[in-house]
Order: sequence, then structure tokens, then C-alpha cells
Amino acid sequence: MAPELRRLAADKPVADLFAALEEDGAVVIEGLLDPGLLRRVNAEVSDAVTAADPAMPHLNPAIAGFFGTRTRHVAGLASKSRAFATEVMCHPTLLALCDAVLLPGCAEYVLNLGHIIDRGPGAEQQLIHRDELTWVHVPRPAPQLQLASMIALSEFTAENGATLLVPGSHRWPWDRQPRPEEFVQAVMTAGSAVVYLGSVLHGAATNRSADVWRRGLHLSYVVGWLRTEENNVLATPPAIARTLPERAQRLLGYGVHDAIAKLGGYCGMVGLRDPIDLLREGKL
Ligand SMILES: [Fe+2]
Repeated sequence: MAPELRRLAADKPVADLFAALEEDGAVVIEGLLDPGLLRRVNAEVSDAVTAADPAMPHLNPAIAGFFGTRTRHVAGLASKSRAFATEVMCHPTLLALCDAVLLPGCAEYVLNLGHIIDRGPGAEQQLIHRDELTWVHVPRPAPQLQLASMIALSEFTAENGATLLVPGSHRWPWDRQPRPEEFVQAVMTAGSAVVYLGSVLHGAATNRSADVWRRGLHLSYVVGWLRTEENNVLATPPAIARTLPERAQRLLGYGVHDAIAKLGGYCGMVGLRDPIDLLREGKL
């Protein structure tokens, strides 16, 4: 039987979205961002996307090869777009799914990365990967470490390189290679999103279009005791963070991760205090 990716409307009960996510490792949420929010986010990031250099230097040759030279990147989104920081990163549906997926393994989850990946014509298929391999040193099996999503900020089509995913691969042994017929492509309208576990195999497909840039927003969260891909506190410094709601500040990593109730300890203190309090008191 051909694999499938379930497609559910954003107003479906979170339990239904979670059930699909648990079973298949990925689910398409149609209309996650309403048209107004989609428009605001696109307007707020548009100049930064246009100015981004597809041939920008990367951390090392492996990352440079992974991204290629036909993709424009904008990260640090919470400092560039208030709609991202307050409405997309704090989207109630995404946070409810984070509650279900990540809270069993932590006291509080945080933003891992908000990253626009604007793939131009000729951008080649990404290496098929698991996002969770960022934390390769964590012994497996492990609790769910990451919940990720790719939000379509423009239409995702088969031709312009909609994300390829392998449903069910979150349950595979990590050395099992997918066959071509096991992939499903997350073709979706602008404002829709594919939400997936960090252990699911996936990758962007080749953009075969002549002139269409495929603008996607990778938004992912991790358990709050893990080092995040982007250093979100530096990317969104106190001068900006203090203008955001506390929930956003906590997602950006300003709060301590408090595992005292589980007989654990704290991560992320400053001078033995919770940076959220310092921010409120004007001391950061
Ligand atoms: Fe990925």
C-alpha cells in the first residue's frame, strides 16, 4: 500500500493531530496560519529574504553542501518579525502538540530554530535526514527530543520542491534506508504546514521550476534541557526580548529549566536568578 500523509484542518481537535503524528511521525495541518497572519509574516520578513545571499558562507563544507548555493536563509526570526515571535512561534496548535510530544521528557520546551528556507529554481534535493541527529551524542532510544514543522509561506508544489517525508520512519531502525516508493511529498497551500517528529526521515525536494522560489519556514522546538541549534538568546537579545510576552521570552530560552519537582535541578540561571525576573526588573 502506498504510504500516505494525513491532512487535517487546523481546527481539528489537537488529539486527532497528535494521533496522526504519533502513528505516521508526520501530519499536514491545512490552514495553520490564517491568511492575515500569513500576509503579516511574509511582509515582515520579505526584505531580509530578498537581501539574503544564496552563496552565503556556512559553518563547514558539509553544511554548505547540504544547503547548496540556490537557497536564501533567514534565521533569528523572533528578532525580525513580531508576528513570528508572538503568533507563529506561540501558535496554540503547535504549542499544544509540543505539550503532548515534548513535555513527557522535560519540564518546559523551548524554540530550537525559526529559519526561513527560501529555495530557488535549481535548488537540488537535500540529503534525506533526521533533524534529531543534531544531537547525535544522545543515546537511543531516547524520549522525543524535537518537534519540527515546515510551514509553507508560499505554495508548496511537486515541481517547486515540496518537502519529501517517509511516514512511519520514526519507528525504523536508524540504519534502514527508504525506498523511492516510501516517500510522500508534502504538497500544500501557503499557510499550511507539515509537522513532524525529529526522528522522521525527510528532506526538501529539487526545485524544478523555472522561476519559482519556494519559501518555507522551519520552526522547531526541543526539550528545554538541550542545547538549541540557534543560540536564541543572542539572536533575540534582551532589548527585543523585553518587548515580547513572557511566553515568547520563555520559548526563546530566557527562563530557567526547572526540574526540581522531579528531584532534578535548574539550567539557565544568571547570577543564581531566573533571567525572566531579571528581564522584568530591567537588570538584563
Ligand atoms: Fe530537516
